[in-house]
Amino acid sequence: MAGTGVFADIFDGDAYKYYSDGEWKKSSSGKTVAIINPTTRKTQYKVQACTQEEVNKVMELAKTAQKSWAKTPLWKRAELLHKAAAILKEHKAPIAECLVKEIAKPAKDSVTEVVRSGDLVSYCAEEGVRILGEGKFLVSDSFPGNERTKYCLTSKVPLGVILAIPPFNYPVNLAVSKIAPALIAGNSLVLKPPTQGAVSCLHMVHCFHLAGFPNGLISCVTGKGSEIGDFLTMHPGVNCISFTGGDTGIAISKKAGMIPLQMELGGKDACIVLEDADLDLVASNIIKGGFSYSGQRCTAVKVVLVMESVADALVEKVKAKVAKLTVGAPEDDSDITPVVSESSANFIEGLVKDAKEKGATFCQEYKREGNLIWPLLLDNVRPDMRIAWEEPFGPVLPVIRINSIEEGIHHCNASNFGLQGCVFTKDVNKAILISDAMETGTVQINSAPARGPDHFPFQGLKDSGIGSQGVTNSINMMTKIKTTVINLPTPSYTMG
Ligand code: G3P
Repeated sequence: MAGTGVFADIFDGDAYKYYSDGEWKKSSSGKTVAIINPTTRKTQYKVQACTQEEVNKVMELAKTAQKSWAKTPLWKRAELLHKAAAILKEHKAPIAECLVKEIAKPAKDSVTEVVRSGDLVSYCAEEGVRILGEGKFLVSDSFPGNERTKYCLTSKVPLGVILAIPPFNYPVNLAVSKIAPALIAGNSLVLKPPTQGAVSCLHMVHCFHLAGFPNGLISCVTGKGSEIGDFLTMHPGVNCISFTGGDTGIAISKKAGMIPLQMELGGKDACIVLEDADLDLVASNIIKGGFSYSGQRCTAVKVVLVMESVADALVEKVKAKVAKLTVGAPEDDSDITPVVSESSANFIEGLVKDAKEKGATFCQEYKREGNLIWPLLLDNVRPDMRIAWEEPFGPVLPVIRINSIEEGIHHCNASNFGLQGCVFTKDVNKAILISDAMETGTVQINSAPARGPDHFPFQGLKDSGIGSQGVTNSINMMTKIKTTVINLPTPSYTMG
């Protein structure tokens, strides 16, 4: 159970503590932040409202701890990560329990998130050992005008202190996707969890604590964005920010100093359906892609662009599947669960009302109870409706009927987002042409958009992000190239 057994140290009976210098502490602010259960809409947990002084302290500790961590052999860093991964998986039940209560993720998916996270940490340890164990050797005589008098040795060195800010929808998985690459590469890590998802994060961090990482190397500060948000992202001690979330990322990237940024800020992933597509396959993928975790995924299908000639048939198939989705509590493993907050539900409702006023066809009746919104397919959506462009981050999916492939590509590329997209057709040549024309970080052919498997590159264009994620790219991004050049007094040619 959450906050008990091996997790007893992280909870004081009323509120969860924050993690600094290898210890669980209460904030000197004496204040806490409430976490509202999206299902009951009542306070489920409380976390510490950390102060700016406490942030300064973790930054100072992170800087010191990183110096000796960078001197820890790579195999040993990997060994600790493997240990943390095993502990994380061993304690999947209490962590999944927190996910259910804090973010209303269905019970089975919550367990999957924790297991997937353990696998990611292990994979990262293995990949890190390989790619960080390699460098490059260059010789000078390949460049015009040079003799072979210079040997250049390149290796990858850590950046220093990484600030990791994961989002509410994958608080554990998208935290470890930042923590593990940072640590294997020899960096220290300061984690600022999302408020909804903070307690899941704190449990996950405790698994790293139990694995025996050095004090100060990992810290986790909780609190109000208004108090410590900008203070963290603009802190001079931060050498790199890895952020996943919404618009806040744009503001962060404008305020951050001259440091590498890794940003994933959402998407409006289009699903382009051609006349020759297997409509049963499309319908299943629209359900999986559009409605899993109630549409609260950056990579969710967020607009269907279907050729008019097959639109009626596709809409009927999707409607039939929507009718089978179960709606209810995450504890019951319902397909559709309450969205994360009342403000999120209100925002989604605003998009639905706008579509209603402008004449969209409602394939189901709009229904909402508290934060629970029933799945809704909106047909005949037009570009003047907000839902055609905005991300609902909820179980509402617009269908736009198109008359040409060009029209579909045009709609996709007119979006300010460019995360992923997908195209359904049996013609691989057309699929490749469409994929190349779509201005998105990834295009899936004959499947819904998805980030995983977690070692695949994951990136967005335009407002969807900066840089690329995935295990290898994240490790590389959290390092810098260092070179040493050996200068010889006379040219030396191998076997010369
Ligand atoms: O919303 C977070 C984004 O990374 C989606 O991940 O695994 O659901 O495709 P996934």
